[in-house]
Amino acid sequence: MDNIIIAPSILSSDFANLENEIKRLELNGADWVHVDVMDGHFVPNLTIGAPVVKALRKVCNIPLDVHLMIDNPEKYIKDFALAGSDIITFHYEAVKEKTPEVINIIKSYNIKAGISIKPDTKPEEIKDYVNMADLILIMTVEPGFGGQKFMTECSKKAVDIKSYLTKDVIIEADGGINSETAKICKNYGINALVAGNYIFTSTNIKEAINSLRG
Ligand code: DX5
Ligand code: ZN
Repeated sequence: MDNIIIAPSILSSDFANLENEIKRLELNGADWVHVDVMDGHFVPNLTIGAPVVKALRKVCNIPLDVHLMIDNPEKYIKDFALAGSDIITFHYEAVKEKTPEVINIIKSYNIKAGISIKPDTKPEEIKDYVNMADLILIMTVEPGFGGQKFMTECSKKAVDIKSYLTKDVIIEADGGINSETAKICKNYGINALVAGNYIFTSTNIKEAINSLRG
């Protein structure tokens, strides 16, 4: 796992032209497409659901990295799995001690399972669960909106999480990632980066993606 995975978030893309946006990402070197699902309860914003993931699947040839910022994620995993997600990440704060159960539901569909933590959640809280997951998603902003400022303290959690790992687990950061904050993340051992605003406001997507690889 030497290469950094770049997962542009379509939250900042043109929703009227999603097929073109996906093609643009694929052609310019994105590794995954990050899909932000928000329910207006777990976070104060509403975005998209499984039918949109199903539509994206038809036009997308790279993995769909689905980030569920929703309450009761276990109720919706089937829909998102059957819609064609490759990775489903849920929030620890939404399920707490039910984490192993939720991971097992995701894995029953033969897809990767991720656990995400918000800025106020300490890495110790997920210590017992990290080796059950395929990916740990560290939020480096409060989840809910694109275009927020990166919180360096949050990226440091990767060091603790790595110390708990006994197997290869991807550590992904999400929120406020640009070419500068990407360097900070990589220094702490993060090997997958989500970026919305930085990529979609750039005039050259290829250069923006490459600049995150460093
Ligand atoms: C925020 C989402 C992010 C968001 C990142 O709640 O989980 O994936 O799209 O956006 P930027 O890169 O603009 O901070
Ligand atoms: Zn996200």
